[in-house]
Amino acid sequence: MSLDSESERFREDVLAGLSAEPRSIPCKYLYDASGSALFEQICETPEYYVTRADLALHEAHLDEIASMIGPDAHVIELGSGAGIKTRRLLASLESPRTYTPIEISDAALAQSTRDLESAFPDIEIRPVQADYTQPIADSELLLDPAARRRIVYFPGSTISNFERHQAIDFLARLSGIAGTGGALLIGVDLVKPAERLIAAYDDAGGITAAFNRNLLERVRRELDAQVDLGAFAHEARYNESRERIEMHLVAQHPTRIVIDDHVFEFEQGESIHTENSHKYSVDSFRKLAAEAGLTSEKVWFDPDGLFSMHWLTAEGGGFEV
Ligand code: AVJ
Repeated sequence: MSLDSESERFREDVLAGLSAEPRSIPCKYLYDASGSALFEQICETPEYYVTRADLALHEAHLDEIASMIGPDAHVIELGSGAGIKTRRLLASLESPRTYTPIEISDAALAQSTRDLESAFPDIEIRPVQADYTQPIADSELLLDPAARRRIVYFPGSTISNFERHQAIDFLARLSGIAGTGGALLIGVDLVKPAERLIAAYDDAGGITAAFNRNLLERVRRELDAQVDLGAFAHEARYNESRERIEMHLVAQHPTRIVIDDHVFEFEQGESIHTENSHKYSVDSFRKLAAEAGLTSEKVWFDPDGLFSMHWLTAEGGGFEV
């Protein structure tokens, strides 16, 4: 997508989201350059256990995971694979053939491709620049026909951002990419007491608050909007019935956001919903996967039992690609 159509899309999504009831803005817009940098800082806060637990899970179980994957695999990752987990995974595999990162950001993709090519000269790196939330044609995916099996790798519990029905459709699509004999490795954050979750999404150092409020800053800057940034406060709420953390920007007093000739009036306490992070038990994720035609054959946990990773395969041997 060109820059112009990208910012036009942002404008349309913000206008539609602020007109809706309740108000919301799609969470993907949190991750501009400063948002992504703030997210990395979130991962370092003492309260945000997710990244450390995911890494600890990998440390504890990579040998077993690697032996389940077996030799000559084609690993397809959703995300650039710039991180330590990807390197550990690739390093632990027996004669992996091909690695495909799918990533929307050209810069992130180019950087991680260069790094991985030099770290793993025997693995073919086939980067794909694409928005993995949208369907991707097989021809674009550059599947490796000589690979023994395909593994779709989606760590970090990024799946938490999806609504349940979206997660089901998404998993079904990934199952098509993995194809016959393939498997999905999906990182999933576990349900836990609300206080622990709220602390993780409202750290005392205020990094998550800055991450959330950066979205309004982006609206102001990129859409030339009139926004009183000081009028909105970050709030993390646990929605018990939907088992998800919700991030909101809550008006502290009556205020308005003006974008061109659109005026959005806020009463005190009115919010813009900016992100969901769905939490699952082993069972609730198994049920979700089953609705996508997938069976969870194995689940691993970090040593503290905070985070999980499922090995999913298609019932009846998988879809033909
Ligand atoms: C990137 C979706 C895994 O839900 O934990 C963290 C995003 N937002 N703190 C999560 C996030 C605020 C994160 N995921």
